[in-house]
Amino acid sequence: YRRLRVALLGAGAVGSQVAALLRQHADELADRAGARLELVGIAVRDVDAKRDVELPSELFTTDADSLIVGSDIVIELMGGIEPARTYLLHAINSGADVVTANKALLATHGPEIFDAADQVGAEVYYEAAAAGAIPIIRPLRDSLAGDRVQRIMGIVNGTTNYILDRMDTEGAEFSQVLADAQRLGYAEADPTADVEGYDAAQKAAILASLAFHTTVPLEAVHREGISSIDSSMMDAARHAGYVIKLLAVCERLTEESGESISVRVYPALIDRAHPLASVHGANNAVFVQAEAAGNLMFYGAGAGGVQTASAVLGDVVSAARRHIAGGVGVGESTLANLPIVPVGRV
Ligand code: NDP
Ligand code: HSE
Repeated sequence: YRRLRVALLGAGAVGSQVAALLRQHADELADRAGARLELVGIAVRDVDAKRDVELPSELFTTDADSLIVGSDIVIELMGGIEPARTYLLHAINSGADVVTANKALLATHGPEIFDAADQVGAEVYYEAAAAGAIPIIRPLRDSLAGDRVQRIMGIVNGTTNYILDRMDTEGAEFSQVLADAQRLGYAEADPTADVEGYDAAQKAAILASLAFHTTVPLEAVHREGISSIDSSMMDAARHAGYVIKLLAVCERLTEESGESISVRVYPALIDRAHPLASVHGANNAVFVQAEAAGNLMFYGAGAGGVQTASAVLGDVVSAARRHIAGGVGVGESTLANLPIVPVGRV
């Protein structure tokens, strides 16, 4: 197989798992991608920091710029706006395809990054930027490209769902469960982004932009967080047959004067019989209503290092396929040699 140089920016909750899986499944990934994905280095702030997984120390550097030069694929998992924006633009202009999970960056500087990529024929992959491990970017961008999405509604932030769920089911204290969400790698570096609904608003802006084929600026998203929700409100909701969830709604509104778009994030009372009420822990669920397809439901892990790494690696494989063969001619899979169990059920 041809070798592709893969640079990783960030080795936190997600990045360390991406690095580990890239190394652990190197042979299988090579078969799937049709190229060997060679992790050439990992840019971090502190090369001596303790990592969630053990990785060779010689991979670590603080010099992201040098790492980017000559890389075929650059994975940005640092988070935040700067220096992530500058590094991504550098990667694109150096001829790399880029993979990012950075919704904060895409919701604020998406057009600049996509334009830069268009200008040089590069591709930006960002499946992990909304709803963690759940495939939702590709379904909206590709699978539903021939349909008309009317509405997206769901839970798109794992941290707040984890907090609200434990407050509801265990009567746990807000501050204690937030600390647990941080320890488990669900929360953003600054958890205010989760708790005050900024993260969900960024994801809603990205999803609405894809669904409605336009650019929805973050400022246009109505945002309310969950910091004012206390145990008395949870109790009152429970007694009335509801549960409180942080909801994101993206809607196409049709009025006499024409069509418009409404995007909003707010804590909502959900009837306990509604499927969203059964979304527990850091899981997310996204309902998409499209004119021809009808109702679709996407569910799964909305946060977490290894879960999100799955979406990132899917993007890396896509980028590698594009690099070597324009999306065709993928190498023969070693899985083709696995025996097929000759029974209907196992
Ligand atoms: P972490 O905060 O755990 O890790 C960030 C990593 O980036 C660290 O390794 C840090 O280095 C490095 N880094 C930060 N700033 C710099 C800098 N200026 N120069 C060099 N390296 C830097 O973040 P996560 O892994 O949780 O998240 C990464 C991205 O993925 C974010 O955009 C986040 O929104 C997104 N995401 C996260 C999910 C999750 O469940 N955690 C799920 C979906 C998306 P050092 O370790 O040395 O400090
Ligand atoms: N902090 C985010 C969340 C990570 O809790 O949903 C996944 O995007």
